[in-house]
Amino acid sequence: MKFNRIEDLDIDGKVVLTRVDLNVPMENGVVTDTTRIEKIVPTIKAIQAAGGKPVLLAHFDRPKGQRVESMSLKQVVPALEAALGQPATFVEEAVGGPAKRAVAAMGPDDVILLENTRFYPGEEANDPTFAASLAALGQAYVNDAFSAAHRAHASTEGIARLLPSAAGKLMEAELDALNAALGDPQRPVVAVVGGAKVSTKLDLLGNLVEKVDHLVIGGGMANTFLLAKGAEIGKSLAERDMTDTALEILDKAEKAGCQIHLPVDVVVAREFKANADFEILPVEECAPDVMILDAGPATVDAIVGVFEECRTLIWNGPLGAFEIPPFDAATNAAAQAAAKLTREGKLVSVAGGGDTVAALNKAGVADDFTFISTAGGAFLEWMEGKDLPGVAALADARR
Ligand code: 3PG
Ligand code: MG
Repeated sequence: MKFNRIEDLDIDGKVVLTRVDLNVPMENGVVTDTTRIEKIVPTIKAIQAAGGKPVLLAHFDRPKGQRVESMSLKQVVPALEAALGQPATFVEEAVGGPAKRAVAAMGPDDVILLENTRFYPGEEANDPTFAASLAALGQAYVNDAFSAAHRAHASTEGIARLLPSAAGKLMEAELDALNAALGDPQRPVVAVVGGAKVSTKLDLLGNLVEKVDHLVIGGGMANTFLLAKGAEIGKSLAERDMTDTALEILDKAEKAGCQIHLPVDVVVAREFKANADFEILPVEECAPDVMILDAGPATVDAIVGVFEECRTLIWNGPLGAFEIPPFDAATNAAAQAAAKLTREGKLVSVAGGGDTVAALNKAGVADDFTFISTAGGAFLEWMEGKDLPGVAALADARR
């Protein structure tokens, strides 16, 4: 897919409306994880280096078209200034007189952050009038919010059709990494998909079996597959009404030549709590009164063997109940193996989605993966093979 990059736009002396994702975790008005803020700094600096004046557009939380003070982007300003190493001017509106006046008063090195675009009903409605009011503030548009690109909103989609538009550095890195993992990957490709439910990842599984050579299924959803294949899974978390669907996915995988890897041994306990007594059993020996909470060591060995055969790994979702030790063991061990192969230059590893990033951080390997996406929902929709409206608008802007 072709899209403009910042270098493709003439932004010298111009106001550049820059869509970023500042939807960061916050407690009592203080940002608790600044990852997303740090990741947009190169884009802002690149715009400034090209003589452009960045005016940041972003949403925070889900105020549903109303002004909700607890969702004001004002709270993000200190963390933004710290990341940028310079002051940022906050404007309590995203459009209209105050925004116009602040933009008109901008000096060459200034950065402006406008108020939460979701305070306006036109944002989520992708209302052309609202998009035009945003566009009227500047002369170019840069989208650096891959993680909001699955939303067809005025600040992510509509505006890209009104101004010369380009991808920011983070958007570029996300698209390049995702293309390297699934668009045009080095083969063989293995996907790891975990998490609780098959039902939330049906489209994703259906798309992946057609594109990857190996699919490792873990977490609660593996139980549904084991059950579908006739295994005893005791009191394990599973979707008992999804077994036919699971069989259809297995069938589709077989036809597509995708090899599915399910647990061959499991870690079981009678209670779902940290440090509960546990046992490791071959999958055939699971008893009616226990719960499967993680994949066992033989499964991990098999997964690592697959990683060693592959050139590309794409990972979404933990292999077990990773929030409570010791049921994080399989996720940690497999993640560490992937990290090692990546460090050795043998594997391109890409991961994303909410829980996944938390799990990889917990395993201490987040820095060793080739790329970790900052996106949750957008990463999943991209893994489902869907067109992301924010990305499609950038591609159209290039044509
Ligand atoms: C995110 O946090 O995943 C993005 O910022 C999108 O937010 P949303 O799910 O509220 O659209
Ligand atoms: Mg979200």
